[in-house]
Amino acid sequence: MTKQLMTKDRLRSRYWFDNPDNPGTTALCLERYMNQGVTLEELTSGRPIIGICQSGSDLAPCNRHHIELVKRVKDGVRAAGGVPFEFPLHPIHENVRRPTAALDRNLAYLGLVEVLHGYPLDGVVLTTGCDKTTPASLMAAATVNIPAIVLSGGPMLNGWRGRERVGSGTVVWEMRKRLAAGDIDYPEFLSRIADSAPSVGHCNTMGTASTMNSLAEALGMSLPGSAMIPGPYKERGAVAYETGERIVDMVWEDLRPSDILTRDAFENAVVTCSALGGSSNAPIHINAIARHAGVELDNDDWQRLGHEVPLLANVMPAGAYLSEEFYRAGGVPAVMNELLSAGRLHGEVITVNGLSLADNIAGCETADEDVIRRYGNPLVEHAGFLNLKGNLFDSALMKTSVIAADFRQRFLSDPDDPNAFEGKVVVFDGSEDYHARIDDPSLGIDGRTILVMRGAGPVGHPGGAEVVNMQPPEALIRAGIDSLPCLGDGRQSGTSGSPSILNGSPEAATGGALALLKSGDWVRVDLGRSEVMLKVDDAELAVRRECLEAEGGYRYPDHQTPWQEIQRGMVRPLDQGMTLAPATKYRDVART
Ligand code: FES
Ligand code: MG
Repeated sequence: MTKQLMTKDRLRSRYWFDNPDNPGTTALCLERYMNQGVTLEELTSGRPIIGICQSGSDLAPCNRHHIELVKRVKDGVRAAGGVPFEFPLHPIHENVRRPTAALDRNLAYLGLVEVLHGYPLDGVVLTTGCDKTTPASLMAAATVNIPAIVLSGGPMLNGWRGRERVGSGTVVWEMRKRLAAGDIDYPEFLSRIADSAPSVGHCNTMGTASTMNSLAEALGMSLPGSAMIPGPYKERGAVAYETGERIVDMVWEDLRPSDILTRDAFENAVVTCSALGGSSNAPIHINAIARHAGVELDNDDWQRLGHEVPLLANVMPAGAYLSEEFYRAGGVPAVMNELLSAGRLHGEVITVNGLSLADNIAGCETADEDVIRRYGNPLVEHAGFLNLKGNLFDSALMKTSVIAADFRQRFLSDPDDPNAFEGKVVVFDGSEDYHARIDDPSLGIDGRTILVMRGAGPVGHPGGAEVVNMQPPEALIRAGIDSLPCLGDGRQSGTSGSPSILNGSPEAATGGALALLKSGDWVRVDLGRSEVMLKVDDAELAVRRECLEAEGGYRYPDHQTPWQEIQRGMVRPLDQGMTLAPATKYRDVART
């Protein structure tokens, strides 16, 4: 079916600016933009009105560079015959927002849906960067379904200390251990972490920000090759201009998110995520975008399509390099070119530039085979997630490729089965409980303990906390054991490479069986069967559940704000993307 091109008289903005049925309202819309110096001709001659959703602010430094970049976007919009209108996205700053930035993903989503629905916009440029700005924006674009294009602000330059690369976030996990072991003091700790952030941009590792911006490109929602251009590079300003030009053409072509965000596009994102060594937050956000786009996608798909895909991007935390080397080696197109040649991707999907993925990445060979590996020579095999199930939860994710050999040895339960592990659990209820008790010797934590964190899902800790990657007690670190397996209903930072069992759903706070766990219980993890089983019989579990219910259920902290209460009342579990249940039924709302 040939797509019908948009015409001037059918532009959505005509309803506001040229509506003979309601001259009074039309005049009010016009006068209040004209008082900004916008001309009547700009508003009434049939030019596409382009929203530019500004995610940068003083409160959102990972995206602040967009305040400059948007000038180039506007130049591009005007050059292509459009009229740009900039407006703010609710700020989301991963490191700073308390209790967690994840609380704001759905709030920013709701706000953006209302703006895109309620204002005279024919298309929108989504400026993204820090972790949740990308999914929030894409979820809204999928819901409203007006032409939309993503412009990432790009990662920071590489961090350095002497000749050593220092990666955002990843350095924190390393230095926390050295601080705990007494190797460095607090001023040095601070200075080493500051080394990781040398310029404007988002995290320079393959954390959630780089992952989600790369996957926006893999989905076809940003210009090819744009996701990983470092923030300060001149190419970033150029691609901002091209993005502005392109959105105007997308309006004329009536190229909408629903044309791009297809099941095949999501499958491409899942596969690409594994090859990138992408963040364990990606399944949450990608599943959420899919739900808002009306595409079926779940964690079984992540295991089936993604688990056996090899790791090609040699970027921290899974690899050795940072965003600058990754960009110079060819970035996302070079990774996808390897995957397409290996038959792993759908090449025919349409992307924002109107061309297919295969067209966009043709000839994009890796320019450095150490940084972006050939498919046949990966860093690790099976780099994706397993979707673990059992009597503790219906779904939890684990990246098995990061399990170290010594670690496998310590927890092995059966010498004939290299995939079966057992450990005794020590349970914490939220991160404050963990910090208060982790060094308590009476907990008996040793080299064969599994640390459990519960009360950290989207309801227990409103928004879901990145706290499952717990550090062992200081005494154990000093004795040479610097990591223990962790399991829980919360998330983990994308910059952490810990071998954790994450995102357990349903969470303890909504009746998940994690609430029944007691310190001292044994848990068996069978990676061959994608299974996690609590070794407590059903009768005992039934008694524990009765007791818990008699006590009024699993306790979690009170709401601190209205939004916490509203979100807790309607949020879906992490495996369903932590979406707001009533919101996922809305589709294509710009047309209604
Ligand atoms: Fe904002 Fe990492 S903290 S991108
Ligand atoms: Mg994070």
